[in-house]
Amino acid sequence: MATAASSGGVPDHLFVSVKLESPRLAALVFAPHLFGSHPVAGSWDPSKALPMERVAASIWELSCVLPSQHETLDFKLVLKPKGDSSECIVEEGPNRQLCCGSNKVEMTGAVFKLSEKDELECKVWVETEMLSPFDLAASWRAHQENLQPSKVRGTYDVVMNAETESRTKNGFASGLELDLEKYVVPTPNMGAGVVYAANLTENPRSLLDHGVSSNNDTTKGTLQNLIKGDDAPPNHYANTEKGVDGRHAPSQEEPRAVFVDRGVGSPRLSRPTNETISMGNIKQEFEAKGMPAAEGAVAAAAVADQMYGPKEDRKLVIVLVGLPARGKTFTAAKLTRYLRWLGHETKHFNVGKYRRLKHGTSQTADFFRGDNKEGVEARNEVAALAMEDMLSWMVEGGQVGICDATNSTRSRRNMLMKMAEGKCKIIFVETICNDQDVLERNIRLKVQQSPDYAEQTDFEAGVRDFKERLAYYEKVYEPVEEGSYIKMIDMVSGNGGQLQINDISGYLPGRIVFFLVNCHLTPRPILLTRHGESLDNVRGRIGGDSSLSEAGGVYSRKLASFVEKRLKSERTASIWTSTLQRTILTAHPIIGFPKIQWRALDEINAGVCDGMTYDEVKKNKPEEYESRRKDKLRYRYPRGESYLDVIQRLEPVIIELERQRAPVVVIAHQAVLRALYAYFADKPLEEVPKIEIPLHTIIEIQMGVSGVEEKRYKLMDAVNPTAEI
Ligand code: F6P
Repeated sequence: MATAASSGGVPDHLFVSVKLESPRLAALVFAPHLFGSHPVAGSWDPSKALPMERVAASIWELSCVLPSQHETLDFKLVLKPKGDSSECIVEEGPNRQLCCGSNKVEMTGAVFKLSEKDELECKVWVETEMLSPFDLAASWRAHQENLQPSKVRGTYDVVMNAETESRTKNGFASGLELDLEKYVVPTPNMGAGVVYAANLTENPRSLLDHGVSSNNDTTKGTLQNLIKGDDAPPNHYANTEKGVDGRHAPSQEEPRAVFVDRGVGSPRLSRPTNETISMGNIKQEFEAKGMPAAEGAVAAAAVADQMYGPKEDRKLVIVLVGLPARGKTFTAAKLTRYLRWLGHETKHFNVGKYRRLKHGTSQTADFFRGDNKEGVEARNEVAALAMEDMLSWMVEGGQVGICDATNSTRSRRNMLMKMAEGKCKIIFVETICNDQDVLERNIRLKVQQSPDYAEQTDFEAGVRDFKERLAYYEKVYEPVEEGSYIKMIDMVSGNGGQLQINDISGYLPGRIVFFLVNCHLTPRPILLTRHGESLDNVRGRIGGDSSLSEAGGVYSRKLASFVEKRLKSERTASIWTSTLQRTILTAHPIIGFPKIQWRALDEINAGVCDGMTYDEVKKNKPEEYESRRKDKLRYRYPRGESYLDVIQRLEPVIIELERQRAPVVVIAHQAVLRALYAYFADKPLEEVPKIEIPLHTIIEIQMGVSGVEEKRYKLMDAVNPTAEI
């Protein structure tokens, strides 16, 4: 019963509901059960048959979730004496079969021979539904009446655990204080509090290098040329105002014979046929060009795409477009973080930062009037300076630049396109928001956070000024209709909206679209934790699939209690584990939330070193030990994985974490959590293998409108920290 993969490579699951109806059942001393060919259904062992539950006066039901890769399930219904499994009455007739796919069928009735003369006849319905784990997680409340106890291994990938009685059995009085704040410990990697995203963007090197003065006219001449088209400077800065259709004109120096405009890194780019390709060539060229650190799929695509396309297609500029308070800086910051994490050299250039540096922070709305010639010139000037900096950085090896400004007129965009011509590919990302509530919230947040209003003591006066600024922009706003673009219309809430794309193809633009589709602003926490201490942790062995030590077991109960308290006011949430038993066992005591096993969350594969201690690796495989010590990020265990490999396989997990709107608890492993954490904390790849992820500590990442915040809770001491390579 194989099913197609969905939801980021996670296979669908078969939700099964079997109903049995007879008014006589209630009066009998027998309880209906189901057993069958699959381990979930007890492998034809009546003592392991699954009990059905009484859901109405005469209806019994059993529902469960089956993993995708199981054999066709043959089953039968069986009556077992209550409190005794000695004499079971198996239904008459042939086995029943569970079919795949979504349907509801009434099966032939079940006949049980209660005695020689007494037969019990029941109606039987079977309902099956293919669900992605995420649908299942999202709709878990709807399935609450059909909850099933969790099994530790080899059975369900997605389980609903409603063993309320096990709260006491598992010792929920696990010594965890009610006041969770007592467990908070300092965060070593990320400062607390929210930082205004624009402040974290690239420092305006053109301004800092040349000294800054609001009367500085050195760039003005060039700028006027750029805007007006007089005396085009050598690097293709020329007038683009008159009827340009938004496409790049061929440049003199770089004949466009091989140019096929399919976006950055298009796999369909033409290349000279007389050139022979070898992996050695590719690697050399790749290294020489200072390509990103990405490995695996990304590196393959990057190598294949970027080596053979026109030069300007190897670099990408994302030009944001949109009125103020449309979430451009937020989008730019997220995209930068994501692309960097995937190994692409990416930088975010915020034009507002340039403006503030050059003209100060006290500009009133007037400065932004469309008919304020000086203001328009000054704003174009700083936009061009940011673009110049970006292009210089690209010459030095940068791969993706993000130009964060309103860029709301066609002439401004034409200017940027002219500057980029022959050097890089431009994609416009336009954010449109018509939701007045979202806008009002964004405006207020902006006035609160932006350095433009830092000195404004009257908050409402700041809001009025910002609204006036917005109205000036609205007057001259021209939506993007030119070039390659991605238009996001009312998508921030994550509740639908529209995405329009034009002339977008290639590996990286494809990833960007996919990422943007899944991002939204709904605040929710993500809790990251390693499994409880495992037996291998105690022995100092890497990898393996051992179960929990005693201390690990205690942590699992403390964690369950923590999750219960921390998420008690949430309408829904889900628990994600790897497929290794130390995470599944750690999740086991958590009750009332669906659990999803992800293979992508399995620990780094230590290949031939799996099961060894670090000392054994040093002694028996000194070369491996040394290579890993030298470059832990890129080092790949023979027949195993590198950190970069782990990052690649975690990409669907990140996308799904971005897409989720409910809290998620991720119970995984050291290397995997280092990689996930690096994404949220925007850590450089080189730092990933060294990030501190202690045992028995929960890292809470709060995803919200103004960025990412972190809090750490240490529930108990980590008894056996392992010395690493
Ligand atoms: O020691 C615990 C563990 O999760 C091992 O299973 C894994 O190989 C290791 O940590 C990963 O950490 P590092 O990359 O520092 O060796």
